[in-house]
Amino acid sequence: MTAPANSAPRPRRFLPSGPLKGTIRVPGDKSISHRSIMLGALAVGETRVTGLLEGEDVLATAAAMRAMGATVERTGEGEWSVSGVGVGALLQPQAPLDMGNSGTSTRLLMGLIASHAISATFIGDASLSKRPMGRVIEPLSQMGAAFEASEGGRLPLTLRGANPAVPIAYRLPVASAQVKSAVLLAGLNTPGITTVIEPVPTRDHSERMLRGFGAELEVETDSAGVRTIRIRGEAELKPQTIEVPGDPSSAAFFIVAALIVPGSELVIQNVGLNPTRAGLVEVLRQMGGDITELNAREVGGEPVADLLVRHSALKGITVDPEIAPSMIDEFPVLFVAAALAEGTTVTTGLDELRVKESDRLTAMAEALALAGATVVETEDGLTITGTGGEALRGGGPVVTHLDHRIAMSMAVAGLVSRDGVEVDDTRPIATSFPQFESLLDGLRG
Ligand code: S3P
Repeated sequence: MTAPANSAPRPRRFLPSGPLKGTIRVPGDKSISHRSIMLGALAVGETRVTGLLEGEDVLATAAAMRAMGATVERTGEGEWSVSGVGVGALLQPQAPLDMGNSGTSTRLLMGLIASHAISATFIGDASLSKRPMGRVIEPLSQMGAAFEASEGGRLPLTLRGANPAVPIAYRLPVASAQVKSAVLLAGLNTPGITTVIEPVPTRDHSERMLRGFGAELEVETDSAGVRTIRIRGEAELKPQTIEVPGDPSSAAFFIVAALIVPGSELVIQNVGLNPTRAGLVEVLRQMGGDITELNAREVGGEPVADLLVRHSALKGITVDPEIAPSMIDEFPVLFVAAALAEGTTVTTGLDELRVKESDRLTAMAEALALAGATVVETEDGLTITGTGGEALRGGGPVVTHLDHRIAMSMAVAGLVSRDGVEVDDTRPIATSFPQFESLLDGLRG
């Protein structure tokens, strides 16, 4: 793994582009890739994974599972073999677990370790070391795990697992799939039933995959949409063959790029469209985006389609905050679409964006303003008045704050700018989408 802190920043100016035409395929889903390695490492026997995202974040998960006794091997492009140790049998890691930039690796692994009789120290890069871990420390402490964290519940932190752990019923105070998953994964090796109550639905990959691996897990949804998820502990997981669908969060950059670059007509293959992830497509359609689903199918138990995206005259809208959890990682690139739309786009209810790999509200407000967009940052959202399709001025360098999604979003903004947009550092892109620049360069011809 190449930690960005160990090499020099890699700036790049993303230049204006002619029409984007052709067919591309997006890499495997990051959330599903993490979970396939983690659950494979807890099943006894060999799990085979195809289409795994080979980005730095997922490689951090792979290295951590190896450090705890699993055999995790690459057998081909995107093809991996994981031989697990069994629930309850994770080994004590001999060195700190380096999570790099990855919040998902950190929070989900904290859950796994919390109910094992081992301890682990988590370290990460400058971005991850600023992110709040209190949201997982709280429920996992209730289950009996002990923590020594840096100030404010941050990394570096050491966690001592509880064995046996105590089953809890936990109502999520924030809409977070990472917190939900941490508690469910801790529940795997906890006697009895661990319950998570989720007032606002978030991505459900953990639930789908835990069931797929044979865990006893049930989900009940009440008339108000509140989900109660119960998992029976001391589970025995059975190895699986998993095909990872393409990542809608990676497809998002090319969807928006094709919508805003005049004359574009792009097919993006293999896009995961799990309803808990597909909010961006719905919002872009509300803005007038021409997006057609082709060849709808199921891959790895998840709905998938190829998307045909044509350049469209977008219109500003007020985005319903209720849709936010189903597109939480896509707001940076939605803001770019809004900057090119006609009229004003208003977003609210986005406090969670302030605790991602960067404060994405401030980072995008500053980056877009530097590129010539009209942006007002509010407490919990951005209000953006678009150009009506006219190119942005461009400029920079915009600051990415070690955040891959800021870098890729502003690269997309550069495509419809007069002077291009300079991004101060493209290295973070490798955390989630190593092929991003070559795919983009290939389309420009
Ligand atoms: C993820 C959940 C989301 C998302 C992240 C991946 C996951 O985080 O932003 O990129 O795989 O569970 P939160 O749960 O903090 O919203």
